[in-house]
Amino acid sequence: MRDDDRRLDATDRGASDGGGIAIPDVSAGLIDRSIYSDPDIYQLELQRIFARAWNFMCHETQIPHAGDYFINYIGEDQVIVVRGADDKVRVLLNTCRHRGNALCRAELGNTKTFVCSYHGWTYGLDGALIGVPGKADFYRNAIDQAKWGLAPAAQVDHYKGFYFATLDPAAPCLFDYLGDVGRVGIESMLNEGDVVSLDGVQKNVIDCNWKIAVDNLFDWYHVKVSHSSASSVGFLNQRLMMPMTQMVMLGELGHAIGGPMVTAEQQAKLDALSDAERLAIDRLADAERAKATPVERRPLRTTATREAMGPVGVRAIGHPNIFPNLWISTRGLQLSLRLPRGPGRTEIWWFTVMPKSFTDTQRRAAKKFITHAFGPAGLLEQDDGENWSQSTRSSHGVASRRYPHNLQMAMGQDEVLVDPSGQKRIETRVNEHAQRWTYRCWAEWLRARDWPELLATRSPAPTGRI
Ligand code: FES
Ligand code: FE
Repeated sequence: MRDDDRRLDATDRGASDGGGIAIPDVSAGLIDRSIYSDPDIYQLELQRIFARAWNFMCHETQIPHAGDYFINYIGEDQVIVVRGADDKVRVLLNTCRHRGNALCRAELGNTKTFVCSYHGWTYGLDGALIGVPGKADFYRNAIDQAKWGLAPAAQVDHYKGFYFATLDPAAPCLFDYLGDVGRVGIESMLNEGDVVSLDGVQKNVIDCNWKIAVDNLFDWYHVKVSHSSASSVGFLNQRLMMPMTQMVMLGELGHAIGGPMVTAEQQAKLDALSDAERLAIDRLADAERAKATPVERRPLRTTATREAMGPVGVRAIGHPNIFPNLWISTRGLQLSLRLPRGPGRTEIWWFTVMPKSFTDTQRRAAKKFITHAFGPAGLLEQDDGENWSQSTRSSHGVASRRYPHNLQMAMGQDEVLVDPSGQKRIETRVNEHAQRWTYRCWAEWLRARDWPELLATRSPAPTGRI
């Protein structure tokens, strides 16, 4: 059976889904445009990707005290991430068990209980139903409160302070889920040790399919054209994009890193510096820094970070994506979630983290750069968003949707190199390896009926010619 002929039977999708769904074959680097507009595929993504994956929730410093909570999403399910009186972080579906009302309406805060605004059912920080108005008079005490607590996520865990949750009890543990490539991505934010989350998450909605936005984070081909205006006003230095020295790391289950690299020769020079010297260079203004090192603007990794990231990971200074939708961006200071809101809509969230050790001056400079780069006011996101939106729109047309997207750049042209440490990478030029890998894993997630099947059928991280 060919991939594009494969159909899932109705049992995959629940009784009301009404038939099978064809998952397009993406192995030739051609992407059927239906995946950006088909409502059935979108529903399957919610079920088989978002409800199954470990989804990023928040950083520990966003909820430091008992009663602190933060609202996020797993797919389209809204969840409350809350620190209990026992200091444990829980993730609870934000829907009252009585009539389903959204329980918590604030985006974040501190509370002792969650009280429903409809009929007043009251829940504790652990999700237990602790108050039912009229319990004696109206229910005649015939309600078992223990059975009507808020629904919890199946698993909640963190990696070095970054909290994730999954709705699937069969999902592997977070550490294994992230794998080497996912962990390298998170470690890239920890160059100066502990970080703190800044107040405020920038949020905006773009009329695009979420995968178009994810595809773009690995795309160093568009920078020169899409962001030419940012270059012309001096915000973006095209030379720093290093299109001819790129590295790609591909991790199991769809994690990937793609973009510029530090070459082995450059890394050897950096390794000769002490941590203090590296940090001093990091803090120079860009123009000064450009004179000091061959690798400008990117954090020069400290010894501890180099050990945590490994000899290959430390040279990857491109963009990590933790599958499905968490982009670690902008010098490791920002995380972006691409939250699905229908086949043609995506809510973009920008979290900002900074090393606790940053001085006020550094913090101000970083905030200014970040605000000008991404988020609703960002020069780069405005360029990107327009293209994502128009690319999504063209997936609907009767004629235009017959023509697949082309993701064939550098296909079959490169080699996966395996370091003695076991870390794998492709050293290349601008390419589309990470995008193809993302779509290949995406198709595997959609085809597998459950975690055991996904683990049995997923592609191993590639080796050899790619
Ligand atoms: Fe929440 Fe009725 S819907 S108390
Ligand atoms: Fe861009």
